[in-house]
Amino acid sequence: MPTDRILDVSGLWAGYGATPILQGVSMQVSRGEIVGVIGRNGVGKSTLMRCLMGLLQSWRGTIAFMDQDVTQLEADARARAGFGYIPQGRDVFPQMTVEENLQVGELIGGPDGKKLPELVYAYFPRLKERRRQIAGTMSGGEQQQLAIGRALIGNPSLMILDEPSEGIQPSIVQHICDALKSFRTELGTTIIIVEQNLDTILAVAQRCYIMEKGKITRSLAGEEVNEDNVRAQLLL
Ligand SMILES: Nc1ncnc2c1ncn2[C@@H]1O[C@H](COP(=O)(O)OP(=O)(O)OP(=O)(O)O)[C@@H](O)[C@H]1O
Ligand SMILES: [Mg+2]
Repeated sequence: MPTDRILDVSGLWAGYGATPILQGVSMQVSRGEIVGVIGRNGVGKSTLMRCLMGLLQSWRGTIAFMDQDVTQLEADARARAGFGYIPQGRDVFPQMTVEENLQVGELIGGPDGKKLPELVYAYFPRLKERRRQIAGTMSGGEQQQLAIGRALIGNPSLMILDEPSEGIQPSIVQHICDALKSFRTELGTTIIIVEQNLDTILAVAQRCYIMEKGKITRSLAGEEVNEDNVRAQLLL
């Protein structure tokens, strides 16, 4: 039966050493959705994203991506299959220029990546102005745009962002939100975004999963993605 589901996670367990963190996470994402994952500090949001990307092996459960079981695939194979990942913090090569950082994205993205630097610059004009600047000398917000641009160059079907607004000035957060919505409408990118910033979630997420202590306990959809509901889940 045809399905518009791009990701199907079922009963996922994972942790560090012998300590379980994810305790049976299930979630489903449809093609072209922007889905938020919200929850308090330390509940396992980043652990879940690492597991989705294949940077942390799951103990149990399955991850299906475009009807293919990817549970056993390493991160690089998942990247080739269409996963893009922007980890928490500023994930750029600080000693390289903007242009060189994007070239690394091209290598990961394969031959199709070659035409994409201009696409990145179209969404993030500031990066074009600064293309010869050493990435580590740029502001946090500019570095975050670069990290997103580098992932975009791989032409991902599914982009996973872990707290992209953390420590970034509001005007750049707004620009990043607009870019994410454009990726969805113009490129058909599906997006999973972990966020603790109320405004970011309200600006971009069509649906939200709520995480508590290693489990997804609720989901919010449509009108339920509102200030009161989201704020209640983000309180520390
Ligand atoms: N590399 C690691 N080794 C051991 N324990 C870890 C590691 N990374 C995270 N943890 C622990 O796993 C739990 C979940 O952490 P995780 O980073 O997934 O939470 P989070 O929801 O992303 O939190 P935050 O909102 O602070 O980013 C925490 O108790 C954390 O201390
Ligand atoms: Mg985290």
